Amino acid sequence: MVAIDGPSGAGKSTIARRLAARLGFTYIDTGAMYRAVALWASRQGVDTSDMHRAEQLALAAGIDLAPGRITLNGEDITEAIRTPEISNGASKISAIPGVRRAMVAKQREIGERTSVVMEGRDIGTVVFPRADVKIFLDANASERVRRRHAELAAKGLHISEEQLAREMRERDERDSTRADAPLTQAPDAVYLDSSGMGIDDVEEAILKIVRARVTNGKEIV
Ligand code: DC
Repeated sequence: MVAIDGPSGAGKSTIARRLAARLGFTYIDTGAMYRAVALWASRQGVDTSDMHRAEQLALAAGIDLAPGRITLNGEDITEAIRTPEISNGASKISAIPGVRRAMVAKQREIGERTSVVMEGRDIGTVVFPRADVKIFLDANASERVRRRHAELAAKGLHISEEQLAREMRERDERDSTRADAPLTQAPDAVYLDSSGMGIDDVEEAILKIVRARVTNGKEIV
């Protein structure tokens, strides 16, 4: 069990996906789960301030994480959840304790069933506080905005860097200051600043930590 937490745009998804492939583990993107609930709420006209209905949706949501795809109640929503609107909606809806309870239960069930690299905001602190390896992946703000901007542009989504920077700042602020499971580094997590590091270097750095912590004397990677 490898837990990767950190702010938006730090490179968690890219790294977690690659690590999972290297380790033969399942990659779990928990942000995608909150995004799925936000998308459903938006389609149902449920406001992110309606805690009760949001929780009901979270409990009823049939979320399936197949490799590289995510489905909601049987519909492929992989691309639909990657818009800036859903990013904001997910950040808002994820502050609701009932929504978090529903998602955390799903995440624990998956993590108990199989070996995972799970990424999000509260994996090492709340979801799996006894994870074998915990990484807090960070990068400086301008680098995170630059990466996310390039990612969106590659998908044909054009938004100014200024607006994106504002939205990411607001989102990280909300995710870090909410009462329930805010984004914070677990005391036993390894802090890694990926600013100025290539993706291969980040992967190697984490693999080194994984090898040192999970092997129990046996080589697994
Ligand atoms: O990782 P992401 O940017 O796709 O996540 C979208 C939002 O979901 C993020 O702003 C906060 C929330 N989130 C959360 O509260 N807890 C998690 N474990 C993962 C994501």
